[in-house]
Amino acid sequence: MILGVETSCDETAAALISADGKILANVVSSQADLHARYGGVVPEVASRRHLELISPVIREALHEANAELDDVELVGVTTGPGLIGALLVGVAAAKAIAWARRLPLAPVDHLRGHVASLYLEPDPLAPPFLCLLASGGHTMLLDVRERGRAPRVLGATLDDAAGEAFDKGARLLGLGYPGGAEIDRLARTGDPRAFEFPVARVPGLDFSFSGLKTALLYAVRELPPDELERRLADLAASYQHAIVRALVERTQQAARETGSDTLAVVGGVAANSELRAALPDAVLAPLELCTDNAAMIASAARFEEPIPYPGYLALDAYASSA
Ligand code: KG4
Ligand code: ZN
Repeated sequence: MILGVETSCDETAAALISADGKILANVVSSQADLHARYGGVVPEVASRRHLELISPVIREALHEANAELDDVELVGVTTGPGLIGALLVGVAAAKAIAWARRLPLAPVDHLRGHVASLYLEPDPLAPPFLCLLASGGHTMLLDVRERGRAPRVLGATLDDAAGEAFDKGARLLGLGYPGGAEIDRLARTGDPRAFEFPVARVPGLDFSFSGLKTALLYAVRELPPDELERRLADLAASYQHAIVRALVERTQQAARETGSDTLAVVGGVAANSELRAALPDAVLAPLELCTDNAAMIASAARFEEPIPYPGYLALDAYASSA
């Protein structure tokens, strides 16, 4: 079986999957509560928390899978992009386990991990497909041709990521962190047409969300406090509607331009109920695999060239791909 380890942001995660992609255990310990009072992830706090949680989380995954370290044949770990101190905790843990057992280790790119959330049982998706990756750190349209090859980037955000737009919008509305799920919940009782928020028109297949955030800021400023309270759900619904429209329009444009028959959506924002409903024909990552987890990392590890023992001891993490 394959052990996956993920610590790129504020989720400490470990998973065990079989070589053919069955999830045997998928443990995610979110630090969201720890960072909520700061309104966002504090990198140093995240690193320290990962350090406390990584061993118990791996042990929990083994327990859940009814397995032992002896059963592990390959270790896959996120090496980037992400918070560097957070990544290093997972990389150090993965190296230590692999080295002690003389196992191979596969470095996994976090974004390819999100895409590989589509390759797990019971309904693994086979390339080629067009993939919308929308998370807290990235918004991309990817042309996925092969499981083991880096996808071509057709479009990306010029400023904020879609999840970041959700999180910053939630903050303006006085909702908790992380904001995407909060806005999603509140939007259900609001009117998506109550406020007219602009969808940025940038050339090509890129995205832009910073103007939308500013539009929300102005709308919030114009409302007296009691009125703001009363219209919170309408604001959330209209704001969410604008983000979803931007994502859906660009994705459909990309599908037309590339002639892709199959469309898939992955990443934390893929958990959004309006986005899921707006793309009924798309292959949607299972809800529990949208936000960060290690099952997707273990899944991606299957398609990477593993580094044999002990060649990975000097393996490093990277904060960004560029
Ligand atoms: O993929 P992910 O867990 O982490 C990154 O790789 O960034 O994505 C986290 C992002 C956050 O911005 C969060 O607000 C957003 O996904 N998110 C949602 C929902 N659930 C999580 N956004 C909209 N609707 C949701 N239901
Ligand atoms: Zn992610």
